[in-house]
Amino acid sequence: MSRIWVKGGRRLQGEVTVQGSKNAVLPILSAAVLNPGITELEGVPDIADVRVGIEILRSLGAEIEWQGHRLSIDGRGIRPEPVPEELGERMRSSVLFLGPLLARFGEASVCRPGGCAIGKRPVDLHLEGLRQLGAKFDLSEERIHGRAAELKTVQIRLRLPSVGATQQLVMAACGVTGMVTLSGCAREPEVEALCCFLEAVGVAQIRGAGTSRIRILGGGCCRSTRFFVPGDRIAAGTYLAAAAGTGGTLNVQGISPWQLKRTLQLFRRMGCRIQTGEDFIRISGRAREAVPYLATAPYPGFPTDMQSAFLTLAAAAEGKSVLEETIFESRLSLAEELNRMGAGILVCGRRAEIPGGARLHGASVRGSDLRSTSALARAALMAEGESRVEGWEHAERGYESFTEILSELGGMIRKETEKEENSKVLKNETEEPKVLL
Ligand code: UD1
Repeated sequence: MSRIWVKGGRRLQGEVTVQGSKNAVLPILSAAVLNPGITELEGVPDIADVRVGIEILRSLGAEIEWQGHRLSIDGRGIRPEPVPEELGERMRSSVLFLGPLLARFGEASVCRPGGCAIGKRPVDLHLEGLRQLGAKFDLSEERIHGRAAELKTVQIRLRLPSVGATQQLVMAACGVTGMVTLSGCAREPEVEALCCFLEAVGVAQIRGAGTSRIRILGGGCCRSTRFFVPGDRIAAGTYLAAAAGTGGTLNVQGISPWQLKRTLQLFRRMGCRIQTGEDFIRISGRAREAVPYLATAPYPGFPTDMQSAFLTLAAAAEGKSVLEETIFESRLSLAEELNRMGAGILVCGRRAEIPGGARLHGASVRGSDLRSTSALARAALMAEGESRVEGWEHAERGYESFTEILSELGGMIRKETEKEENSKVLKNETEEPKVLL
């Protein structure tokens, strides 16, 4: 368990270059299994989930070198070993090793991902699709063991545009000598990034990535490749929201604004000024206006990963806002923690009513998943007084140097050392904290 200390009330100001995308790089690490040559990745974020992904690749026999944000994966020694439980249990997306292992070796064994703080998160669509491709499964409570003598040409229609299931099936389809057509696909930029990577490796020709119908012509010849991981749109949105909450001015570099279209529309609607260029977004002004109704939706809709940002901003906006979470069934637990800071949010099922007008105050709060934990840090930066955010290990799964970045932008925020966790040393409230990491 780790936690951070935050003192609110300062405007964030400056520039940040956004990290490589977590949700793009994790499936790409699984897809590297398909390449028996060398895969070089640039822009790999140094976050806990990536470290788990790398350990999984090593456990399968890959040789890995990781320097700065450059990762080199030598796939020659990869074998279809079972993904170790202690690694699989630490990261839900370890299930994405299933498709590529089946495609390359006809065999795979991964941990069965359970539910998590945001919902049940089943993998039925992954398994249904893989069965249609010709795989057979032995399922136990803990593991999924799959076999496929041969994967076959097929047309698959997804019942839901699941990001994970789309990525899983695209990777598995690379092992088919012939055309696989997927319809009802997720259109998220991270699906597109994966398809670009697979084409760069040469394992498949892919058409329609980024649309709901993707055609994969697999069975290609792999080649050593170098690939740049795109910027993280959710991390970019997170920093923009931090600035919008404190009334600051921030330039986020390394992100294509079109990936954040709905999020930027929201910031504008809440009263922020937004300027964009090919690979930057600049925000200024405080998010003050309430939004009568906002619902999360699959891409290109408003992302579920950004709803925690909205909840936090809406709490302090002028007037009542309503948020409906349509993707994950229990992703509003953040409201309870924000209420400890004075937000007064009412949650009924998947709907949150945010009265607005709150003057958030410091409190001791706990995050239960990646995005809600970072949202609590942002709320604490907006609040009067000191806060402690527990559960910081969730944020470290997906954000690189989060506290250091916000501290450089002027926020009073830092990770607490173990020593401090045992003794409450921060008695002098006016003292400016030093970054200790
Ligand atoms: C991915 C992202 C996550 C993001 C989410 C939605 C990664 C590592 N994670 O998660 O950050 O919040 O997309 O943009 O990229 N579903 C089923 N059966 C399945 C699969 C999904 O019913 O087999 C349902 C889920 O319960 C959920 C919905 O489909 O209600 C969307 O889930 P999905 O798009 O699969 O999310 P993830 O890929 O898990």
